[in-house]
Order: sequence, then structure tokens, then C-alpha cells
Amino acid sequence: MRTSTLFTAALATGLLAIAVPAQAYEADWKRGRVYYRSVCTACHVANPVGGINPSARAKVEWTAYLAADKHAKGKDKVSTYLSKSYRNSVKATNKAAEKYLDVPDQELADDLKAFLNKGAKDGDAPASCS
Ligand code: HEC
Repeated sequence: MRTSTLFTAALATGLLAIAVPAQAYEADWKRGRVYYRSVCTACHVANPVGGINPSARAKVEWTAYLAADKHAKGKDKVSTYLSKSYRNSVKATNKAAEKYLDVPDQELADDLKAFLNKGAKDGDAPASCS
């Protein structure tokens, strides 16, 4: 009896594993917006480059930009500024970096991508940088 219960449980677990594939992460464009406006823009406005409006580029341009992962004319990477280590380094002075400290890098990258696509000049809601 006991063996068959265990067997049934194991079978059910196995079936469940097949029936429920790993959930794809659903990007949170609002979190991407907060991050872009609070972390990315904070640095841009302190530099000669100034604020960069998402609506300055089309969706395909943002998609290509993020995929290339080259930032500041190739001097560094966009992913650097999405990373936990970057958030950690500015958390004392940046509330959004502190708030999202524990968000996995890939989720934040997806959030940012969702916001830039939505805010692009041909996006659903063309957006400014702040
Ligand atoms: C620590 C400062 C800093 C942070 C943080 C930062 N940037 Fe930048 N970014 C710059 C500077 C400086 C430039 C201008 C580089 C140049 O023109 O030489 C720039 C340029 C850009 C450009 C123009 C194209 C290019 O790469 O030259 C884009 C787009 C951009 N940043 C996106 C982002 C995004 C998205 C984030 C946040 C995930 C971000 N940046 C965070 C400093 C920063």
C-alpha cells in the first residue's frame, strides 16, 4: 500500500512538472520607467549628454541598442548599469537603486526594455526621460 502511495505521489509530481513549464517572466514596464528615470537619467543629466528621451528612438532602435549592450559610445555596457553591483554602489544616494536592489538583473533588463519599447517614438506611449 505504502509503496503504491509513494508511486502515485511521484507520478503526480512528475506529471505536474510536465504540465507546468517554467513561467516566463512578465516584464514590468512601470518598474522599468522608474529605473530609467531615477537611475539612468540621474547620471545623464549630470553629464554633457543630458536627458535621453525614450521617444527620441524607435522601437527597433531601442531593441538593437539593448541587444548590442554597448553604452556611452561603446566605452561600457548598458547591463553594467542594470546590475546588482551597480545598484549596490549607488544605493546610498539613489532611492530606486536601493528599492530594486534585490531584483534579478535579467528581470530589470526586461522591465527597462518594456519601458523603452512602450516609450519609443512609435511605442504605445512615447515618453520623456523624466
Ligand atoms: C554613471 C553614469 C551613467 C549611467 C548610470 C547611465 N548612463 Fe547612459 N550615458 C552616460 C554618458 C556619460 C553618456 C554619453 C556618452 C558619450 O556621448 O560619450 C551616455 C549615453 C547613453 C545613451 C546614448 C547612446 C550611447 O550609448 O552613447 C543611451 C541610449 C544611454 N546612455 C542609455 C542608458 C541607460 C538605458 C541607462 C540605465 C540602464 C544608462 N544609460 C545609465 C552615462 C550614464
